[in-house]
Amino acid sequence: MSVKLAPSVLTADFLELTADIQALEAAGVDMLHMDVMDGIFVPNISFGMPLIRSVKRHTRLPLDVHLMIDRPHRYLAEFAEAADILGFHYEAGSDVAETLKEIRRLGCKACLTVKPCTAPEEIFEFLPLCDMVLVMSVEPGFGGQKFMPEALDKLSALRAECQKQGLHIDLEVDGGINGETAPLAVKAGATVLVAGSYVFSPEMQERVEYLKSL
Ligand code: DX5
Ligand code: ZN
Repeated sequence: MSVKLAPSVLTADFLELTADIQALEAAGVDMLHMDVMDGIFVPNISFGMPLIRSVKRHTRLPLDVHLMIDRPHRYLAEFAEAADILGFHYEAGSDVAETLKEIRRLGCKACLTVKPCTAPEEIFEFLPLCDMVLVMSVEPGFGGQKFMPEALDKLSALRAECQKQGLHIDLEVDGGINGETAPLAVKAGATVLVAGSYVFSPEMQERVEYLKSL
């Protein structure tokens, strides 16, 4: 099974997004990764529902919405209207099991996301409720940061635990993914790669092809 690619639009020029999305579709990406930041859970503010709704109207690609917001359970219904995969942070102050169940009830795939400070063992009990787990390989909040190699051990530990529990869930990695770090993440067990600044470049087409070939 080939790796799936979810470009993050965070560093894109939002007024050029239609052309970028068409280019990404033509290049064969699997979904679009949308980073929602509230300025509280992370020290940055990005965008919310209006942009996600607009993007949904302009593409048939699934939307992978990464909520970096405090107490995300308050906004699930709104985001679920446009999201295909809805992810939130283990550390964000919502009841983890209830939030995962609610996301599935709302018709989305549920993704539990962990910051670099969270040990993989902390989320083992929630894996049966997850369709995907997102391992952050940078501190969430900004694009263009350097990949933290500690994420590799976390991916391996989660892959091993999924096997132990007999679960076939996607493992997604997000932050600092580029030509050097992507193969390492795939080798450690990642099945979905998020890439922002690496993909949103003049070499978009070649870089997408390269990541998809891993
Ligand atoms: C960071 C976001 C990432 C970010 C990735 O908080 O979750 O999705 O946009 O950007 P790069 O690939 O540039 O690290
Ligand atoms: Zn993200």
